[in-house]
Amino acid sequence: MDTTYHIPVMLQQCIEGLNIKPDGVYADVTFGGGGHSRAILKQLGDNGKLYAFDRDACSKCNLIKDSRFTFIEDNYSNLKSNLHMYREIKIDGILADLGVSSYQIDEPLRGFSTRFDGTLDLRMDTKQAFSALNLVNEYAEEALVRVFKDYGELKNAHRIASSIIRQREIKPLETTFELKNTLRHLTPERTENKFYAMVFQALRIEVNNELDSLRSMLLQTLECLKEGGRLVVLSYHSLEDRLVKNFLRSGNLEGEEEKDFFGNKLTPFEVITRKPVTASDEEVEQNPRARSAKLRIGQKRQ
Ligand SMILES: C[S@@+](CC[C@H](N)C(=O)[O-])C[C@H]1O[C@@H](n2cnc3c(N)ncnc32)[C@H](O)[C@@H]1O
Repeated sequence: MDTTYHIPVMLQQCIEGLNIKPDGVYADVTFGGGGHSRAILKQLGDNGKLYAFDRDACSKCNLIKDSRFTFIEDNYSNLKSNLHMYREIKIDGILADLGVSSYQIDEPLRGFSTRFDGTLDLRMDTKQAFSALNLVNEYAEEALVRVFKDYGELKNAHRIASSIIRQREIKPLETTFELKNTLRHLTPERTENKFYAMVFQALRIEVNNELDSLRSMLLQTLECLKEGGRLVVLSYHSLEDRLVKNFLRSGNLEGEEEKDFFGNKLTPFEVITRKPVTASDEEVEQNPRARSAKLRIGQKRQ
């Protein structure tokens, strides 16, 4: 396994959470370096199947040669239609390890990292036309404010947006360091890195339309999972985690629990993880990326 591409987070807990049946059908909707996929295949027998999705063509360098494995280069928001194409109507488990891979962050050309100077790109799918260059140089001020406020939860979203507008009137912003320099006067003392991380998180979520894809995929799991099937989701920030938590609790994105005539809850999932599971200190020490991970598991009710 190429651990330089990505080290899988909470591997054992995710595999246990899927409760794998040897002849079951599973989907890993965020293939990345394939660490979770390989561990799923280890638990499957000859008749088991695994469908792996990734919207980033670069993840194909990790493809697994195994007759039980099928790779689908697409957004997981097209989960149901892709599974139907393979005549899989209901499956036994779905794993989603949200966000970006270490490869994507560490590759300066992709523009995800605040540590390297790279093009303001931030696309997971490099075939997509819209990138952070368009966002930063073409969005109206109010639209920029919304992105930084909603997706970066940044208090000074207005000042960030107006600084960008002022700078791009002189010259369009092209690189990650140009953007950092434009915002340097707004960085809070001592938490400079966190500030930039939140700015880049906001851009990334908007460029990749991440929350809409997540919403769409979560809703499709209701139709794609068999009764007793498992949904296992690892999220890395509160915006994602809130959606996952609400969805598992209620079966809808608002988290509104419905009740029957007698007041019994009508929820499609039994929540296996009352509280989100987090990585051990030992794992975080070996893989700092695991620090913010929250694992939630649900089982589709009979
Ligand atoms: C955290 S990594 C997954 C790592 C993987 N579990 C492993 O063990 O290597 C997330 C991956 O999901 C992909 N991804 C993110 N959003 C996606 C989406 N909406 N559709 C398909 N793939 C997506 C990213 O391109 C990235 O490769």
